Amino acid sequence: METKRFTAKDIKEAAACLKQGQLVSFPTETVYGLGANALSEAAVKQVYEVKGRPSDNPLIVHVSSQEMMENYVAELPEEACRLIEHFWPGPLTLILPMKEGTFSSAVTGGLNTVAFRMPDNRLTLELIKEADIPLVGPSANTSGKPSPTTADHVYHDLQGKIAGILDGGAAEIGVESTVLDLTDKLAGPTILRPGAVTREELAKVIGNVSMDGHLLGEKEVPKAPGMKYKHYSPEVPVWIVQNTPENWTEAVDWAVTQNQQVGLFAAENILQLFKENPSVVGYSFGEDTVEHAAKYLFSGLRALDETAAEIIFAPAFPETGLGEAYMNRLKKAANQNFFKN
Ligand code: TXA
Ligand code: MG
Repeated sequence: METKRFTAKDIKEAAACLKQGQLVSFPTETVYGLGANALSEAAVKQVYEVKGRPSDNPLIVHVSSQEMMENYVAELPEEACRLIEHFWPGPLTLILPMKEGTFSSAVTGGLNTVAFRMPDNRLTLELIKEADIPLVGPSANTSGKPSPTTADHVYHDLQGKIAGILDGGAAEIGVESTVLDLTDKLAGPTILRPGAVTREELAKVIGNVSMDGHLLGEKEVPKAPGMKYKHYSPEVPVWIVQNTPENWTEAVDWAVTQNQQVGLFAAENILQLFKENPSVVGYSFGEDTVEHAAKYLFSGLRALDETAAEIIFAPAFPETGLGEAYMNRLKKAANQNFFKN
């Protein structure tokens, strides 16, 4: 199959592919999604197949309006409406009770709840409107690999396996949406996956919000089935470094004494320290802020994986605000390994 590169002028053609049950990757503000008709079980099953995704891991349904979503929801809590008003379109996924008989268990992983999101991307909102169907949209990477933040990343992983990729440029945020469960009456609103919409921002709109324990215990059964799988991992081992010049220098010196080629995912000012070092290959995320680090994390891991680097170092950031999502992804990529000398 030839995987077409679609741009803004091809939205009608891309929508037609989706209506026929084909797979089209779409851009969002977080990462690229792998789109398929959420109402077609056959199309959804193909999504699992091309990604190599475990079948008990449910998908997010992407909609272009609250009205579209309401067709599939059993009961819309008042707090959901308030959150939608504040954060949609945007990087917030809401888990709601599903209206019976709407989506197949291929979408929900057999649960009686569904995850919904309205992405903040003009092309993708147009695409969903044009197709006039809700789209499942897991990240458009091979399962286990870093999520794609450019059309080229999607092409690299899924070329020949899907009908097309709608190119909307590089994703602005770079880490996946916050997943918020609104179906647990006992626990109340619970974050199952941290993202760019932070717990503090959510709490301002709906009051208390808790964080699911999946971030803590290895043996716990996570509520978001996806949280238990290996994630975001390049082939090369990743280690987390405390983000000071002294720590970077120690880490690089150590790796060099092991005769290793070192890949650094770091801010420009840090890379400057090592520019004369022949054992170091760098990927710069520019300014030394968590926003920049998050935006380029997956891109950097993918790029360094293609170099001669035998070990990748990436910086820790404080786990507040966007730092919570960034560290959640980085710790998984690094298998929780922090560099300590
Ligand atoms: O930013 C995003 O959310 C991206 C873009 C493309 O929209 N999509 C994305 O999808 O990250 P995916 O499939 O890679 O992650 C969906 C997460 C998984 O951890 C899954 O287990 C969880 O959401 N999830 C989906 N439906 C659920 C449900 N009904 N209950 C609990 N967790 C659910
Ligand atoms: Mg994913």
